[in-house]
Amino acid sequence: MSLSVNFTEAVNNAIEAIKYPYVTPGLFAPIRYTLDGGGKRIRPRLLLAAYLACGGKEISEAMPQALGLEMFHNFTLLHDDVMDNADIRRGRPTVHRKWDVPSAILSGDAMLTMASQLMGECEDSKLREILRLFNDTAMEIYEGQQMDMEFENRNDVSVDEYMEMIRLKTSVLLACACRTGAYLAGASEEDCKLFYDYGIALGLAFQLRDDWLDTFGDPLEFGKEIGGDIINAKKTWLLITAMQEAPEEISDILAEDLENAERIFQVKRTYNSLNLDARCSRLVNSYVEHAVACLDKIDITPEARDFFADLARRSANRTH
Ligand code: IPE
Ligand code: IPE
Ligand code: MG
Ligand code: MG
Ligand code: MG
Repeated sequence: MSLSVNFTEAVNNAIEAIKYPYVTPGLFAPIRYTLDGGGKRIRPRLLLAAYLACGGKEISEAMPQALGLEMFHNFTLLHDDVMDNADIRRGRPTVHRKWDVPSAILSGDAMLTMASQLMGECEDSKLREILRLFNDTAMEIYEGQQMDMEFENRNDVSVDEYMEMIRLKTSVLLACACRTGAYLAGASEEDCKLFYDYGIALGLAFQLRDDWLDTFGDPLEFGKEIGGDIINAKKTWLLITAMQEAPEEISDILAEDLENAERIFQVKRTYNSLNLDARCSRLVNSYVEHAVACLDKIDITPEARDFFADLARRSANRTH
């Protein structure tokens, strides 16, 4: 089966068709708002593409799980924006700003449950494994998010700890998407595992690029405010490296009582003096190439291999 399918359009149509047959529209308005707000849909696209690449016939067969992971991802964003005190996502006010924090919590909870319901819409023989992977992945993401928050208050976070944190908060969901698609198509355990490894490496590149964009991106394209990571003292690769290589400069800036814009300006100036912009981009590319190398071992067509290699390389240069 060819992979020249418009996955994004298929996912968006399926999202539009989701029914909310409940009695409290207020709970669902933030959900619709979030899902209608766009987004790159990378997780459902990975799942559906892996499904076809491994011999699946009709993407409709894997669509509930594709939607389940997109729903789950969007749930994490509602709560993440509260945790990160973020005002803007996908170019619009975040749910806790447009509504309030209780709405972001409760609509997020509902999305988590809807995600579970969607994941469970598969044949009985596959149900146990699909739910096991989904639930294990969700627990890992909560651990990654907890580490992300704890790191805000630590100044001795290492690059290794950072890589483990982003593996947990971001990579495992991309990897889960790849593995779920392959598994639903009946791929061998070997190929499921290789697809998972591809997703892990892709996810590391994806989050490193997200952190890069949070400092060096264009807010209009990125759809999020620039500099939020600096204001929250997020231990990104950029900040950790700057703390190692220019420790006094960084600790002086962080200790000073500065306006947000001035703090962002000064930290960015230090990053530039260390050439972190280009060095971070090189690191992103090394994980992309690692992801591409995983593809060579999977039993898929050259067309499928190119599709996933291209998706990984685009993620490294993405501007949103
Ligand atoms: C945002 O994910 C959170 C991260 C893991 C960086 P995406 O960048 O996939 O967000 P959308 O869904 O495209 O908006
Ligand atoms: C988010 O990381 C990871 C999850 C939502 C699980 P970020 O906090 O960097 O994501 P953005 O930048 O808000 O999208
Ligand atoms: Mg966060
Ligand atoms: Mg965030
Ligand atoms: Mg970010």
